[in-house]
Amino acid sequence: MIKPRKAVSSFSPYIAGRPISEIKRLYKLKKVVKLASNENPYEPPKKVLAAIRQNAAAVNRYPDSNAYELKHKIAKKMGVKAENIIVGNGADEIIELLGKAFLDPCDRIIVSRHAFIRYRMAADLMSAETKTVDMKNYAHDLVKMAEAAGKRDKFLFVTNPSNPTGTYSSKKEIDKMFAILKKNKNAPMIVFDEAYADFADAKDYVTAIKYFKAGKKIIILRTFSKTYGMAGMRLGFAVAPEEICEIIERIRPPFNTTSLSQAGAIAALDDDSYVSRTCRKILDEKKRLEKNLTEMNLKFVPSQTNFLLVNVGDGNKIFTALLKLGVIVRGMAEYELPEFIRVTVGKPAENDFFIKCLKKIKKVAVRLRGAPKGK
Ligand SMILES: Cc1ncc(COP(=O)(O)O)c(C=O)c1O
Repeated sequence: MIKPRKAVSSFSPYIAGRPISEIKRLYKLKKVVKLASNENPYEPPKKVLAAIRQNAAAVNRYPDSNAYELKHKIAKKMGVKAENIIVGNGADEIIELLGKAFLDPCDRIIVSRHAFIRYRMAADLMSAETKTVDMKNYAHDLVKMAEAAGKRDKFLFVTNPSNPTGTYSSKKEIDKMFAILKKNKNAPMIVFDEAYADFADAKDYVTAIKYFKAGKKIIILRTFSKTYGMAGMRLGFAVAPEEICEIIERIRPPFNTTSLSQAGAIAALDDDSYVSRTCRKILDEKKRLEKNLTEMNLKFVPSQTNFLLVNVGDGNKIFTALLKLGVIVRGMAEYELPEFIRVTVGKPAENDFFIKCLKKIKKVAVRLRGAPKGK
């Protein structure tokens, strides 16, 4: 057999949230809810469904490889030029393209401990190094990250708000980071991953678009997978300096986004009220979930996203126990957070089912712990 590249020999695949159909099959369950992948639990906007239907009969043709109309529409929405837009098969693909285009084995990236794992994977794939900086109260320590930047660092990833911790970096913290990096003539390119930006409602949260428009050479990642309810369409985009877009274009696979996802995304951008309505519903539900968890004496990290990182003592054990009852969440051991599970805010009935199952497990755990020793 031929051998894979050295970098790939030791590569572990991304652990995706388990699909509902698989868990139904595995545990012979009729009811399974998925609160594992931070998806929007609601259907996409009606306009998106109509656009997908309308374009379905034309899938005999390849899509517009350059996604001309979509790029222009995104650019208008973000207040930048179409030449500043990269579209990808999810923001995920763009992260990987950044790695492929810019990382040599001698290069390094800077991430937070417990950061979204795809940044490290992009570096690993290219045999580049990842410098990990400890978080402060489960949030990025932007000062330490900026101070860690050296000559070899090509990218510094700021997930804002952060997955899987749900925390955010404030304007003040971002300004401090820029001030430190200003003194560094080899400063890395900052990538702000704003997959969850629409959920953030903290007063001092700012999107990095503001900095881009003010002339900062930065990259901002966004996705249609969360607030637009289009995770299954696989569409993400980046706002980036023209020189970066031009380099990514050189290696981007042709036709990397489908005609249906392009049509859907174009329609989605016309429906601002969907985003605000959906965010409101999800954030209200998050409050209810928090109340339920607090009543169960469970601690969670304050979240600016559509998910909660909950301390359950033994994350993997609770993850497996929930799975058997028909609730898919995520264990966090791979993120070096073994005591936690991450649960996505679902529809009210889904969240109720999660709480009911968690209570059942907790009761069993308490009973076992409190049980008298055998004779
Ligand atoms: C922080 C972060 N960035 C990027 C992505 C990838 O998004 P997409 O579905 O567009 O690939 C995710 C997905 O969960 C995410 O959590």
